[in-house]
Amino acid sequence: MDNFSTSTNISFPFHQLPYWSSSHDFAISILLSSFHSALVLVLLFAPLVFAKLKGSTRNDEESNQAPLPPGPTPWPVIGNLPEIWKNKPVFRWIHGLMKQLDTDIACIRLGNIHVIPVTSPEIAREFLKKHDSVFASRPITMATEYASQGFLSTALVPWGDQWKKMRKVLASNIISPARLSWLLHKRTQEADNLVRFIYNQCINSENDSISNGSVINLRLAVRQYTGNVIRRMMFNKRYFGKGKADGGPGYEEEEHVESLFTVLKHLYSFILSDYVPWLRPLDLEGHEKIVSEAMKIVNGYHDSIIDERVQQWREGKKNEPDDLLDAFILAKDSNGKPTLSVEEIKAQCTELMLATIDNPANAAEWAMAEMLNKPEILQKASEEIDNVVGKDRLVQEADIPKLNYVKACAREAFRLHPIAPFNIPHVSNADATVAGYFIPKGSHVLLSRTGLGRNPKIWDEPLEFKPERHLKDGCGSKVDLTETELRFISFSTGRRGCMGVALGSEMTIMLFARLIQGFTWNVPPNESKIDLSESEDDLFLAKPLHALAKPRLPAALYTQL
Ligand code: HEM
Repeated sequence: MDNFSTSTNISFPFHQLPYWSSSHDFAISILLSSFHSALVLVLLFAPLVFAKLKGSTRNDEESNQAPLPPGPTPWPVIGNLPEIWKNKPVFRWIHGLMKQLDTDIACIRLGNIHVIPVTSPEIAREFLKKHDSVFASRPITMATEYASQGFLSTALVPWGDQWKKMRKVLASNIISPARLSWLLHKRTQEADNLVRFIYNQCINSENDSISNGSVINLRLAVRQYTGNVIRRMMFNKRYFGKGKADGGPGYEEEEHVESLFTVLKHLYSFILSDYVPWLRPLDLEGHEKIVSEAMKIVNGYHDSIIDERVQQWREGKKNEPDDLLDAFILAKDSNGKPTLSVEEIKAQCTELMLATIDNPANAAEWAMAEMLNKPEILQKASEEIDNVVGKDRLVQEADIPKLNYVKACAREAFRLHPIAPFNIPHVSNADATVAGYFIPKGSHVLLSRTGLGRNPKIWDEPLEFKPERHLKDGCGSKVDLTETELRFISFSTGRRGCMGVALGSEMTIMLFARLIQGFTWNVPPNESKIDLSESEDDLFLAKPLHALAKPRLPAALYTQL
């Protein structure tokens, strides 16, 4: 499917308008009670506003200042808010707009904020390498405020002391190499459970005979695997409730993972009040209701566990750390005092769950879907695992360095099927000139994950799933999932780059390798191909992937799990 195809009614010619001060918004806010009346008033007063703007318009030629990147003509005061209100999903509108403009960088003014989407690796590198320190903040949005419980965590928090403190705690106490190897057995436990869960479905299939295989809901399996791994590492448990005897999720785990995905979907979703904060009480898109309810569910599962554990440590009922929650509680500052408040621990636990569940699951689901339609690739990946690991034991994290073809498949999934259309936004803390354009302080820079990964100037046959493109000299040299040159975005780079490269890579490869090693996979009976359509509203496979699985290892390997 063409990701960039979308119809727009953008007015030409394109030109730039100056940064509009927040005091104007505030003054207007007193007069307005809804967005629509705002629009009517603004249109009525447009000539006046234009006259006012003219006085403060930055004249690029006169001031010798670089121009803003090209973009649609903004309305006075509200900028291009009407366009994002009208053209949903907004990410498809933005990509369509950039295609029409034939540009790798654009400027869309939303309220008084300049939103700068980017689709070329050279420009992306200018932002995140050359000007990394300038573009190191994050936007404040309604949903990030909920998810970070008032900006107490790391990834969603603007540049500043809180971000520095939390990043330091994560680096030294939570996702250090020593900590990861300490928790290896927990990850292995959940990798084993994934195989057990699928095997049990094969045994319990209506076909009666295991040799006929069973149709597996792979989306459910991969999302529960990522949820299980992080629950196990964080809280030393797979199940909040009773769980299921076959290793599958209970109601609670499904609700937990679903709510986390709901929060993720809304973090940066172009709602009007993220650009014009006084609109927030109106909740025009209904997102605040959705996000607050999802966070209530997530907190409902986490809070009692965290409160109880803190109490156990305070009362001396616990003296040996078992998991990441203990590591958070035990983190001490230079005076030997606890580094984190209970609120900070809660916020950071949720954020790590959000950071962990989505990417590995989405990459594995898409890679399997693509490979089911290209069985020769699936065959090559399973041969590699057979050669490296054999069929007498299950693949382990220690095997990962030798699984270059499997890693190339996962890398290809990140390139072609990123979890989200844009990287987490980077906000500038000063004016800058990038790629010859003026980028005002406070701009939101959106590196397009699809724009980079599917860029025909960078990638040959960009819409084709071709893992071989990542193998430099056959299968010999090392492949990994990072892409610091930003030819696509996996973990990104720089000051705000992903902190979970090691854990994220291990989880992705193990998930993928266990699926391939443990089972032969085919399209379900009565289907000739997997439908690879992408969802219209996001980048997930439009329909959850289902595939026919048959065990391919000796039965004893499964029954001992
Ligand atoms: C395959 C899995 C993962 C992928 C593809 C991924 C990707 C990313 C990306 C693209 C960013 C934004 C970088 C930027 O703003 O330029 C990010 C940020 C971040 N990731 Fe990951 N991530 C993964 C797993 C994890 C895991 C497992 C953790 C931790 C346990 C983690 C922790 C973080 C943190 C803390 C940040 C924010 C850094 C900051 O703002 O300072 N990620 N990740």
